[in-house]
Amino acid sequence: MSRKINIAIDGPAGAGKSTVAKILAKKMGLMYIDTGSMYRAVTWKALKLNCGFDDAEELARLSAVTSIELVPDEENYRILVDGIDVTSEIRKPEVSQHVSLVARIPEVRENMRRQQQTMAAPGGVVMDGRDIGTKVLPNAEVKFFLTASIEERARRRQEELKERGYNISLEKLKNEISKRDYMDKNRQTDPLVQAEDAILIDTTGLTVQQVVDKMVAYINKSVK
Ligand code: CDP
Repeated sequence: MSRKINIAIDGPAGAGKSTVAKILAKKMGLMYIDTGSMYRAVTWKALKLNCGFDDAEELARLSAVTSIELVPDEENYRILVDGIDVTSEIRKPEVSQHVSLVARIPEVRENMRRQQQTMAAPGGVVMDGRDIGTKVLPNAEVKFFLTASIEERARRRQEELKERGYNISLEKLKNEISKRDYMDKNRQTDPLVQAEDAILIDTTGLTVQQVVDKMVAYINKSVK
């Protein structure tokens, strides 16, 4: 049997990466891996242990000793930190507000990247994040970079949070997303940037189905 392809999807918060990545993975029989959930997992633990978010050394140590497991379930997968199911906890606003402070630390990134590369080594993953096409899977067969206007990204995040029972104003979300974008794009190690060979898709005004269709059309055309 030939090796399955790897697909890298990068882009800023709320560009629709996880929604389309999940559908694409299912359609193509690949496994979806959300690398943001791993940075969120370390951040969740740091909050629980009251770590200082300026203490890079402590956060680096924490990321090295924390066990992060992705356990497949019927939906997608559950995420376990040291055996505790944190799948919904890691989506809480408090985690979102701190995660970029953890993700900027080089040793944390190295620890996460090593695990991500191990998961992708046999092939057959759709992996989304910020540095997948540039750093984690530079040889992925297909790379996409998704963007959308800040207004649309904040609106999507508001909907998502509403479904989880949080009512947060659009202004507040725009503010949080812009701050996170800024930190992700301007950090020294593995900043958020479009890989040279990635296909750019602006998802503003497009439905989920339209984005998936564009991706599938590109894959069919380019992967032989
Ligand atoms: O779901 P959302 O777009 O809000 O973010 P996420 O994908 O869960 O990622 C949360 C944060 O983790 C990002 O804002 C980045 O700071 C960091 N991250 C990263 O640095 N590198 C990755 N490959 C994935 C996420």
